[in-house]
Amino acid sequence: MSQLMQAEITGHSSPASGVYMIELFSPEVAAGARPGQFLHIRCGEPGVHLLRRPISIHAVNRNAGLVRIMFQVAGRGTALLAQKQDGLLDIMGPLGHGFTLNQARHKDKNPTLAESSGGRDQPGSIIVAGGGIGAAPLFFLLQELAATEAAPRVKVLLGAARAALLLTVEQAVALGFGVQIATDDGSAGFPGLVTYLLAEELRHKTDFVYACGPAPMLRTVCTLLERAGTPGEVSLEERMACGVGACLSCVCRVRPAGGSELHQRVCVDGPVFSAAEVAW
Ligand SMILES: Cc1cc2nc3c(=O)[nH]c(=O)nc-3n(C[C@H](O)[C@H](O)[C@H](O)COP(=O)(O)OP(=O)(O)OC[C@H]3O[C@@H](n4cnc5c(N)ncnc54)[C@H](O)[C@@H]3O)c2cc1C
Ligand code: FES
Repeated sequence: MSQLMQAEITGHSSPASGVYMIELFSPEVAAGARPGQFLHIRCGEPGVHLLRRPISIHAVNRNAGLVRIMFQVAGRGTALLAQKQDGLLDIMGPLGHGFTLNQARHKDKNPTLAESSGGRDQPGSIIVAGGGIGAAPLFFLLQELAATEAAPRVKVLLGAARAALLLTVEQAVALGFGVQIATDDGSAGFPGLVTYLLAEELRHKTDFVYACGPAPMLRTVCTLLERAGTPGEVSLEERMACGVGACLSCVCRVRPAGGSELHQRVCVDGPVFSAAEVAW
């Protein structure tokens, strides 16, 4: 259940130029958050008229009650947020509909995909693909996937404009995942877009793809998945005002299977949508 609260800032760092990480003590959010959900954050000081800004939950330590956000300075709101190094942060959350983890059942609780299909099929890969600051929500997803039986099947693809802007690579490796990287300028990994790496991976058996990144990247991801007949989910971004479904400022177009096109609110119906349903 989402709540409005003042969370204590317990950490502040800058993992890359123009990118900031804030750690918050919020046992309520840490306990209830799911990967892909976001916080709606008051970035200005009292008296400064500025709408809240949506920032994804980047990492969670449920035992310690800690939550991290990672964001890139894009304008006034995120610039103000970057200056907050201590004190309290006014947050609303966790909000939105996050990634589904049906493909990756928890180690202790459920049968694996191979078991649930009677052991007939060898399961394929689960791919997590992020572009730029899109890596932010995917790290929380990786934290959760690491605790499932699917972990050995997870492949991580991360892209950025240049090496210095690659995010969460070491952290994903530390969780035990194999990581492939791509940079637009060729300064690290594959010289080109992360979607080229995805296209290559989709030549092999793939069960599911999770993706977050800039809109052109996600559009290409959806096209690739459609061609390959592979299911997946993408996390969309739209400008938001209320964050709770009331103002309709964040609508996107979706086309459910067999249905006609309709509008959905990214803040409550998303931000994570089935890749097959997004109407670009
Ligand atoms: C569900 C959700 C989760 C998000 N998670 C993160 C995150 O984890 N880390 C992060 O760095 N950013 C994230 N964003 C984007 C972030 O909310 C925007 O960058 C921020 O609101 C910009 O506010 P600003 O006042 O700094 O910039 P503004 O002055 O409002 O805008 C600066 C520029 O950013 C563009 N912009 C503004 N809002 C958005 C938006 N929602 N999507 C795309 N472009 C936008 C504007 O068109 C303009 O070009 C997320 C957005 C959504 C919808
Ligand atoms: S931000 Fe108001 S409906 Fe989504």
